[in-house]
Amino acid sequence: MPLPDEPSTLLGGLSPAQFMRRYWQKKPLLIRQAIPGIQAPLSRDELFDLADNDDAESRLITHFRQSWAMEHGPFAPDELPSVKKRDWTLLVQGVNLHDDRARSLLDRFRFIPDARLDDLMISYATDGGGVGAHFDSYDVFLLQVHGKRRWRFGAQRDLSLKEGLPLKVLQHFEADEEWVLEPGDMLYLPPHIAHDGVAEGECMTCSIGFRAPSAAELSGQFLYHLAERMEEMSGGRGKGEQRYRDPTQPAVTNPAQLPPLLVERVGAILANIEWTEKEVAGFLGTYLSEPKANVVFDAPQRPLNEKRFIERAKQSGLKLDRKTVLLYDKHAYFLNGERELMSPKARKWLPELADKRYLEGKRFVTLSGESSMTVLLHEWYCAGWIQVDANA
Ligand code: SIN
Ligand code: CO
Repeated sequence: MPLPDEPSTLLGGLSPAQFMRRYWQKKPLLIRQAIPGIQAPLSRDELFDLADNDDAESRLITHFRQSWAMEHGPFAPDELPSVKKRDWTLLVQGVNLHDDRARSLLDRFRFIPDARLDDLMISYATDGGGVGAHFDSYDVFLLQVHGKRRWRFGAQRDLSLKEGLPLKVLQHFEADEEWVLEPGDMLYLPPHIAHDGVAEGECMTCSIGFRAPSAAELSGQFLYHLAERMEEMSGGRGKGEQRYRDPTQPAVTNPAQLPPLLVERVGAILANIEWTEKEVAGFLGTYLSEPKANVVFDAPQRPLNEKRFIERAKQSGLKLDRKTVLLYDKHAYFLNGERELMSPKARKWLPELADKRYLEGKRFVTLSGESSMTVLLHEWYCAGWIQVDANA
């Protein structure tokens, strides 16, 4: 992981700090040989195998006879077109959840907060393959990992889409720039830049994608979170709960009319909803660390008991499972969608584990005198959230 002020090959000699100031969310950047000598994290056959897996999200996009079509996976091997046929592409989302090499590639981008990181998608395309000219609402690094792809892009204003297609294709597309990317080259695009990438011969591209929830999504999810908290605080549906009351409701002749008194009183209840920044942080930590719908943690089949677990962790350290999301702030930590208060003891090791995603054996030795820590980490290990052997 590059340090903020250190020039980095990944960013074409810029430091992460410079990149964030000059390009992030602002303008595209082409980086030749961001990762020299890169190998595709998965081979073509391994990617096809993953696309056959129920837990992986995959799409097949074809442009045969000038007509766009899209299908969702999983795809059995005989359901994919022949690799000799041109004009098709297979996209597999969330490869970092299934493969440690893909997870390590994503880790190179952790100069951007984990809370913004979404996933690593891999696309495979035959000659001429692509997904059409489109724009995304998120930042993306497009890293060429095998073969060549011709990218054309531009900051056009007109983002209207063709109607009646199974995928987002721009009605009009005009590129300002055009580059052919070779293995190791990378293109950063901020949101809403129109782009089109077409394979020149067989190729593979990794998309390191970010998440930026919309105001509507955030508001809806936050209010839902707040409602749950209010229920918890009033002790469930019991006595302490605040509820609408109308002891002054008169008898009516027009029963279907919504009583103005009800609107006024409910308005008053809603106007009383309050929250603190801590509540917002609590919501964000839980929401953003929530595993994606298709994530299943693999608990160890024959887990070590606590004593053996401690011995192993002292020797070889421990690391977060590739699917684990661990975030923290001053008050709490958020592990795969669960919020826990940060105790002064946890503060000694948890931020380090969360930031590095591993703890070295010798760090574990110094900290392991604390039984509350070893009990907790053993539980996480049994749940499949962490693994012993930081180097494995
Ligand atoms: C691709 O890798 O084929 C498409 C990625 C993108 O344009 O967002
Ligand atoms: Co795109």
